[in-house]
Amino acid sequence: MQIKGDSQALARFLDDGITHGDALDLLPLLPERSIDLFFTSPPYADARAYSRIHPDCYVEWFLPFAKAMFHAANKSGSLILNIKNRVAKSGPLKGQRHPYLYELVLAIQRMGWRWIETYIWAKPNAVPGKFGPRTKDSFEYVYHFARGAKPYFDLDAVRVPYKADFAEIARRKLDRLGRRNTEAGFGRDRTKTYLRGGADPGNVVNVPQTYNQYRGVAHTAAMPEGLAEFFIKIACPVGGIVIDPFAGGGTTIVVARRLGRRAAGFEIHEEFVEESRRRISENSAMDAQGYLFRVG
Ligand SMILES: C[S@@+](CC[C@H](N)C(=O)[O-])C[C@H]1O[C@@H](n2cnc3c(N)ncnc32)[C@H](O)[C@@H]1O
Repeated sequence: MQIKGDSQALARFLDDGITHGDALDLLPLLPERSIDLFFTSPPYADARAYSRIHPDCYVEWFLPFAKAMFHAANKSGSLILNIKNRVAKSGPLKGQRHPYLYELVLAIQRMGWRWIETYIWAKPNAVPGKFGPRTKDSFEYVYHFARGAKPYFDLDAVRVPYKADFAEIARRKLDRLGRRNTEAGFGRDRTKTYLRGGADPGNVVNVPQTYNQYRGVAHTAAMPEGLAEFFIKIACPVGGIVIDPFAGGGTTIVVARRLGRRAAGFEIHEEFVEESRRRISENSAMDAQGYLFRVG
């Protein structure tokens, strides 16, 4: 039997902040076309004791969640997925990179989500160790999928300071010929480059694992707040709704609320639910006192 989502259930989730349960049961309770952004970091294949999913079965495991999110996303809504590559531990691919992640991206695209971009989350302080014939893992992927042809996207919210200094910017603003006449032919008019108040940060997002890390939560895979901040700002309008179906220690909810979005999450393990409830209420108390509140 298909369970129909309703706005009362959504209001309850937003009120609760975090709801204990299996996202596969809870996602279908969201009303159709109601959510601006699903931002999440699901359990990585075979990685953690709390949720072991073999990489060979990962696509099959994840697709029902992707379908439920597709149903609930609004027409400018997005699914942004942070996920990590891994090396196969056994079987014919043992010792090689397992293709599960690439298979997953293609499967999500085939089911209807529009694959907009692949971001690299670069971790300048990744933990060193022994990784066989390869360097340490110092990045993870973040995939942006959109429900429709015109996803909400606010580049201005994440612009960074220009690298050129003031004098050089002034010179380029007058450079009407730009470099259009170069022999290579790929010059451009730079007179309008500096009108937006900052530079496009590009699709490599540098966030140290410890950046702004909330230390009061015992989740072993909590993401840095800076990562959530970047993607919430670009893909959800102020006042919009963000849902994290694999909420863990509640990073998405805390950051989204701080940024003036409405937010809720689902979490299957009770101990993490308790942790994130505590974190959400501590943060809202601090935000209410004006320590952390930033909209934009
Ligand atoms: C990688 S962690 C998320 C960490 C989170 N982004 C944070 O910053 O704390 C993934 C979480 O998904 C939860 N999980 C796994 N399967 C789930 C399911 N079917 N429904 C809801 N939560 C689930 C796990 O218990 C784990 O806490």
